[in-house]
Amino acid sequence: MRTRKLIIDTDPGIDDAAAIAILLSDPSLDVKLIASVSGNVGIEHTTNNALKLMTFFNKDIPVAKGAAMPLMRGNIFATNAHGKSGMGGFEFPEPNLELLLKENAVMSEYHTIMALEEKVTILTIGPLTNIALLISTFPEVKEKIEEIIMMGGSTERGNIGVYSEFNVNVDPEAAKIVFRSGIPITMLGLDIGRKARLTAGDLDELDNCGKAGKMISSLFRSYDGGNIEEGVKMYDPSAAMYLLEPELFKVKEAYVDVEICSPLTSGATVVDFDGILNKEKNTTVCIDVNVDKFRENYIKRVREIQC
Ligand code: RIB
Ligand code: CA
Repeated sequence: MRTRKLIIDTDPGIDDAAAIAILLSDPSLDVKLIASVSGNVGIEHTTNNALKLMTFFNKDIPVAKGAAMPLMRGNIFATNAHGKSGMGGFEFPEPNLELLLKENAVMSEYHTIMALEEKVTILTIGPLTNIALLISTFPEVKEKIEEIIMMGGSTERGNIGVYSEFNVNVDPEAAKIVFRSGIPITMLGLDIGRKARLTAGDLDELDNCGKAGKMISSLFRSYDGGNIEEGVKMYDPSAAMYLLEPELFKVKEAYVDVEICSPLTSGATVVDFDGILNKEKNTTVCIDVNVDKFRENYIKRVREIQC
């Protein structure tokens, strides 16, 4: 079977952990690199969390430390949702530090992409700082990137601003660079993660899905203040599931750009489905998901994880 070469750029992050979990052992994927970025928590924590996840899942996948702050703004953290460490709610074993590359994430992503004959897919489930630096510093990588599948933005309202989603809002300049890059992009915004929620009963089912299921369930029970009655929003896992099962999603082409100037709406993704801005469409936007199949198949994938 042809395996898809994959780089995961992430700010773990509770929902990042739940997304990464189902990607590491899938036979259709060859995960080449985990790149950390500052986002939910600071870069030391996100890097350490990425190492903890590779250790937990017994995977010898290299981790590269990424940008410690956005291109032009200060850090905004989400410790309220993810805990001080970024993966509150579960005690992970000490990380295998030998997996940490000496090179930073941008150089590691560059060397990984250029060393492969095949094109590489990049899954971004955090702010886009590393990717903006990568394609601005080494524009030649763009033709070697098959697709960027991103959890980011929103076709509706935001979660950190009235209209802005966290990953894009943390580094809107980086997001603008990526959307304007010409690289094929598939965007899974907040609207999808808000639809594809796990129920409290699903978490109970995850408790019976081995070591990985227990870990994910434990993290989710502390996620976002532990409010699971309304369901657990599956932001990053929706991007991972799109990568694995795109048939569960409905998509529509659009021109997407990012507001960076307005103090009211900075970080908002402007999603133009109807050609109002008279710009060439640059993004495949997920607009719906088969929620029942999403929940069923996500849990099935977790159940199958051997670690
Ligand atoms: O807005 C949701 C996104 O922000 C997710 O990637 C979550 O992990 C946080 O990074
Ligand atoms: Ca994330």
